[in-house]
Amino acid sequence: MMNDRFLRACRREPVDCTPIWLMRQAGRYLPEYRKLRERHSMLEAIKTPDVAVEITLQPMRRFDLDAAIIFGDILPPLESMGVEVRFTSGDGPAIMNPVRIAADVERLRVPVAEEIAPYTQEAIRLTSKELAGRVPLIGFSGAPFTLASYLVEGGFSRDYSLTKGLMYQEPAVWHGLMDKLSHLVGTYLRAQARAGAQALQLFDSWVGILSPADYREFVLPYSRRAIEMAGGEGTPVIHFTTGTAGMLELIREAGGDVIGIDWRTDLDSAWERLGANVSVQGNLDPVLLLAPVPQLTRRAALVLDQAAGHLGHIFNLGHGVLPATPPDHVEALVEMVHSRTA
Ligand code: CP3
Repeated sequence: MMNDRFLRACRREPVDCTPIWLMRQAGRYLPEYRKLRERHSMLEAIKTPDVAVEITLQPMRRFDLDAAIIFGDILPPLESMGVEVRFTSGDGPAIMNPVRIAADVERLRVPVAEEIAPYTQEAIRLTSKELAGRVPLIGFSGAPFTLASYLVEGGFSRDYSLTKGLMYQEPAVWHGLMDKLSHLVGTYLRAQARAGAQALQLFDSWVGILSPADYREFVLPYSRRAIEMAGGEGTPVIHFTTGTAGMLELIREAGGDVIGIDWRTDLDSAWERLGANVSVQGNLDPVLLLAPVPQLTRRAALVLDQAAGHLGHIFNLGHGVLPATPPDHVEALVEMVHSRTA
């Protein structure tokens, strides 16, 4: 491995400077991505390994990023359970057969590893060959809760009342659903590691809508199981959430070698609560990439200052790169982070 800064930070080993990669570093803010998407729908891009490889590598050609993340989405792996996923332009993706009652959960298949998004597993094999050890490749999955919320709501939701309704009114059905999803997620992450992913990120992007009590009862055991299955053979696991400042300790309890945090918590106070024996990823507000570069780098410096003195900081945003981001601001950010010795 020529650049192992990112993996060293996952293990809390000393680094020459802080590693940086960005969630959604491959995406709509890049003109070359938008150009490719004119010729391929979202699902087609994900399901055609050569296209997914190309999109994964686009930001790596432009910027000195310390890790690549395989191009894909959290929803297509659900098709292996018999779920119908559709990406509409405008409204985002939709689940055509939402999961609402016991019979819906019973109908969900529990697939074997080879059946779960095989095109992404192939894209990982091809990308790691292409990267040839220059930088590590990250695989990912949606977390059981974020996937369940999409399955139950059928799409994006403002208040998640159907998801919470299922939890509160039919707890046995909820637990049955989360049981199946945690197996899917654990199996899929493990398969990605076998295909060549050197780190794995669990995206629990929506879990911040829950109270700590609900998280503990209805989610924590399932995230823990997925993380244990994923990291079983020593692959570092990044546990990413947003809006969870009120329950960081519970996120930590669920597991992960690296805890991803958003901008709503200061890095230094987050680390104090998480304990020194875990790495931390984050946490610049993605909107700062739209700000003038001096403002952007000032706030990025604040993030680095808050992490100073800790081993195991991975610089990232608190959530994904926004489509309106100027690519040269990403370049300025990467250079600034690398210019400071850790
Ligand atoms: O960091 C990464 O690039 C990993 C890949 C990834 C994508 N989406 C790529 C993507 C991941 C982990 C996601 C997460 C995701 N996807 C969630 C969890 C919430 C979150 O944002 O963290 C959900 C609910 C989805 C489903 C989904 N996919 C939605 C709601 C949308 C439309 C909204 C949006 O942001 O575009 C997508 C499309 C999507 N997923 C794109 C990308 C790069 C844009 C595709 C395009 O239009 O070209």
